[in-house]
Amino acid sequence: MRVRRMMLGMASEHAPPYVDTTRPSPARIYDLSIGGDQHYAIDRQTSAQISRAFPDAPVSAVENRRLLVRVVAELAGRGIRQFLDLGSGLPTQENVHQVAQRIAPDARVVYVDNDPMTHAHAHALLGDQQGVGYLDADLRDHESILNDPRTRALIRRDEPVALLMIAVLHFIPDADLPALLRAYIDALPSGSYVAISHASTTGMPADLLERIHATYDNAPSPLFPRPAEQIRAMFDGLELLPPGLVSIVDWPAPQGRTLTLPLFCGVAVKP
Ligand SMILES: C[S@@+](CC[C@H](N)C(=O)[O-])C[C@H]1O[C@@H](n2cnc3c(N)ncnc32)[C@H](O)[C@@H]1O
Repeated sequence: MRVRRMMLGMASEHAPPYVDTTRPSPARIYDLSIGGDQHYAIDRQTSAQISRAFPDAPVSAVENRRLLVRVVAELAGRGIRQFLDLGSGLPTQENVHQVAQRIAPDARVVYVDNDPMTHAHAHALLGDQQGVGYLDADLRDHESILNDPRTRALIRRDEPVALLMIAVLHFIPDADLPALLRAYIDALPSGSYVAISHASTTGMPADLLERIHATYDNAPSPLFPRPAEQIRAMFDGLELLPPGLVSIVDWPAPQGRTLTLPLFCGVAVKP
């Protein structure tokens, strides 16, 4: 894998043509936070700024990734064999298909991300992995994502799906959220699961909220942390699994850790 990364230029600052190294990328900053090596000077500068404003940001990213692994393992254990991972990020350790296929070798995953680097890297690093598809798309384009031949080849409409929206909906403005949630959830057959983790304003000290606005309001990818009630409403019409909407470090049970940056998560089943 290292050799292929070097072929892609990732061991140096020479970026392939599809990478814009003049603008920070949430996917690459997240990769940096969780210990990956797919980032550039602009991402490291921005990450350092974010860490100065929110010292807990890197640890929150690590905890969020651990949550993703626990969610996928739980849902694969419940018999789910197909996963639609929206805002999947750069390929890293413990990708969704690896976690799911360890439990169920026949599990299938469609990854969707709008950062072109995630798509190129997924192909270069993971190759034509059995049961895995990648879509370079904005998750708001729900119709084309759901009807894409790669989605249709891997995700059967009549079999329950796990819809993963982990640490991504806080990049989506209010105006776009209700329609996209309705479109994806309506398309799921009964017995499907919806998993969301999301930055929240609930429990966030006022000075931290001010720093978030100061840091993100004019950023290329603004952040929209939301009140817990608004995150809970994203599960309307679904049945939240115990323990309900909780901090990411408390799902499905307390992990013995705390976070100062409130990130909530919930997993629900469609009746
Ligand atoms: C914080 S990372 C989370 C990655 C992964 N879901 C996880 O939890 O480990 C957020 C990802 O969402 C992607 N993203 C942001 N807005 C998006 C959009 N409108 N459509 C698709 N992907 C998006 C970013 O490119 C980034 O890779």
